[in-house]
Amino acid sequence: MSIAKNFHTNNTIKKIEGPIFIGRTWAEYIKMFDLKRKDLFNDRILDCAAGASSFTAEMSKRGYEVIALDILYGEDPDILCAKYREHMKVLIGGLASVDSFVWNFFSDIEDLKEKRDDACREFIEDYRKNRETHYIKADLNFLPFPDNSFSMILCSHLLFIYDHRLDYKFHLNIIKEMIRVSSNEVRIYPLVKNRKLKSDFVKCIINDILDVDIQIVKVDYEFRKGGNEMMRIIKS
Ligand SMILES: C[S@@+](CC[C@H](N)C(=O)[O-])C[C@H]1O[C@@H](n2cnc3c(N)ncnc32)[C@H](O)[C@@H]1O
Repeated sequence: MSIAKNFHTNNTIKKIEGPIFIGRTWAEYIKMFDLKRKDLFNDRILDCAAGASSFTAEMSKRGYEVIALDILYGEDPDILCAKYREHMKVLIGGLASVDSFVWNFFSDIEDLKEKRDDACREFIEDYRKNRETHYIKADLNFLPFPDNSFSMILCSHLLFIYDHRLDYKFHLNIIKEMIRVSSNEVRIYPLVKNRKLKSDFVKCIINDILDVDIQIVKVDYEFRKGGNEMMRIIKS
């Protein structure tokens, strides 16, 4: 029986209260943000709303300078791991009922679950060892850094995708805050919400944030259908 069927035995899909704590793999980040690894050696990178992603752990191992930030950090690793397991179960249950995904990077639901579990394992291992130096608990509305602190800021799967839960003011504040602490560039992925629809907030952000160059760039990654674009915000 597939994992998805197991989670549908009573025909209910639980709702997640509060932030969803899961994480993508390092390999997904490279594709989602079209990162050129050799250029990144000169960067100081901040992964905003990093969750249980393995990006910081894997990049640090390879000698890059990366800090991960999330509102749920600061908790004990076992508590974060339990939260990941609970949220992943609910999300996998939801996936089975929606035909909105491209099965290309992942071969099937089992493969997706395996890769997400690997990412979380890598994250927890690094979080246990390097919590003080690599992982910062903070709210993105108030980043605890001076202006121009990081040359590359990434934000995956928090903005645009939840525009039914997180209002426009939240989006605008956070994007302005990321621009403030960036000396060079901010990248945001994805721009779609569901059923191939791009969030209306994308246009609003382009209209409302001036004095920066905002580009919509195609990337070589698409899991949510239509989710093959990122926003690049370049400070002049
Ligand atoms: C769906 S996860 C995405 C994790 C990771 N970026 C990825 O793509 O795999 C969203 C993350 O945003 C974090 N988050 C939500 N609101 C936040 C806020 N105001 N400030 C910082 N992090 C926040 C959650 O705790 C959660 O870990």
